[in-house]
Amino acid sequence: MEFFDYYEKLFGNRWSALLESLKGEGRAVELRFGDGLEPYYLDEASVFAAKALDVQPGDEVLDMCAAPGGKTLVIASLLKGKGSLQSNDRSPERRLRLQHVIENSLPETWRGIIKVTGYDGMKFGLHKKECFDKILLDAPCSSDRHVLNSPSHLEVWSAKRVKRLSVEQGALLASAVDALKPGGTVVYGTCALSPMENDDVVKKILKKRPSMKMVEIGDLLPGADRTEFGVHILPDRSEGRGPIYCAKLVKMV
Ligand SMILES: C[S@@+](CC[C@H](N)C(=O)[O-])C[C@H]1O[C@@H](n2cnc3c(N)ncnc32)[C@H](O)[C@@H]1O
Repeated sequence: MEFFDYYEKLFGNRWSALLESLKGEGRAVELRFGDGLEPYYLDEASVFAAKALDVQPGDEVLDMCAAPGGKTLVIASLLKGKGSLQSNDRSPERRLRLQHVIENSLPETWRGIIKVTGYDGMKFGLHKKECFDKILLDAPCSSDRHVLNSPSHLEVWSAKRVKRLSVEQGALLASAVDALKPGGTVVYGTCALSPMENDDVVKKILKKRPSMKMVEIGDLLPGADRTEFGVHILPDRSEGRGPIYCAKLVKMV
């Protein structure tokens, strides 16, 4: 099948162990922010990606593709009710889930600064130019672990789709960069396996927007791999965590 051939070519000898780990259990941690609040379970690698943004209380933050909301919870817990957080997602159904998660898993004092919106992420660069200190772009991606474990998704997977998604990711990242204040930080992330959706997207934006510089993300999780521009956490080496790719960029003043 095309999916297996494609990734075997990319990962070579590593593929069989990676494939087995992708079929196995993930490694979720419980996020619980107070008595009586609903717990939320999130892959430790996703927590890592959200923390890589290095959010501080008082920051003006955009979570551009936020639903169902795991990483918004991590960001809100770092803001502690100070600053602002726009949690945006284009999908109305997924936004309902996002709203539920925010209302039921965060203390009231932290929720007050969060605004949920439903814009197309591609528009922020145009309409919100240089407005945010920090932006998380957790981009729509191939979601390979999910695809592998869903026969109907596996059936429609194609290399063309990976290419199409990488073009969309590049446009979303350009929009995020343009919405960032000088001195601001963007973290670009996916849960995709292919470099086409990860380092290649970052490489292109660094060429297109010379004001952006890559920053090395510190304190890696066990088994994480450094790539040319970011970090890739894959379950075969990282005790079931991932897949998560993330890269951190700053806009020079
Ligand atoms: C990987 S998921 C985000 C997961 C989320 N960050 C979390 O931690 O729960 C990608 C999201 O992007 C949204 N999306 C896709 N295209 C978009 C666009 N052009 N603008 C805004 N959101 C978009 C999808 O609806 C989906 O919810």
